[in-house]
Amino acid sequence: MKTFILCLSLLVSVSVFAEEKPAVSYRVNLMKSVGGDMGAIGDILKNKMSALTPNIENHAVSLNSLSKNLLSAFKENVPGGKSKPEVWKEWAKFEKAARAFEQKTGNLVEASRTGDQSKIGAAVKELGETCKGCHTDFRKKDK
Ligand code: HEC
Repeated sequence: MKTFILCLSLLVSVSVFAEEKPAVSYRVNLMKSVGGDMGAIGDILKNKMSALTPNIENHAVSLNSLSKNLLSAFKENVPGGKSKPEVWKEWAKFEKAARAFEQKTGNLVEASRTGDQSKIGAAVKELGETCKGCHTDFRKKDK
């Protein structure tokens, strides 16, 4: 019973702790939005939903806007979530990764306006590499 209560109070304190870190919550939600747009584009391309190809432009514009919020979301050194301490220890490198991401979202906006699935696919692939690169260096692996 004692152990149970201890576990319960630990759980409660962990969740309270999480709520005390709005900066972590904000950057995670920002990233979820990024993941949502990328996922939606992936659905359209993978399943060849040609009637929805024009929708990709709005997702690309959204990604380009979101990319501009990335650096400010991480600027304050608030450990937590899955961010590695390297985000702040190697801030210049992180900034570079964020800029590459922003640039590739811009390229995707341009590609999406051609309506050409193969051009869009190539731009998505390049953008995806910037996600992967930054996550490899700066995001902890899933446990
Ligand atoms: C400049 C670095 C950087 C780039 C670029 C980047 N991410 Fe992230 N991403 C992170 C970090 C760091 C985290 C962990 C945040 C945390 O938990 O504190 C993260 C977390 C996430 C998460 C998890 C959110 C959750 O539910 O915990 C998703 C999904 C995600 N990123 C998607 C993407 C996608 C898709 C792209 C590319 C289109 C991308 N990210 C580009 C750094 C980046």
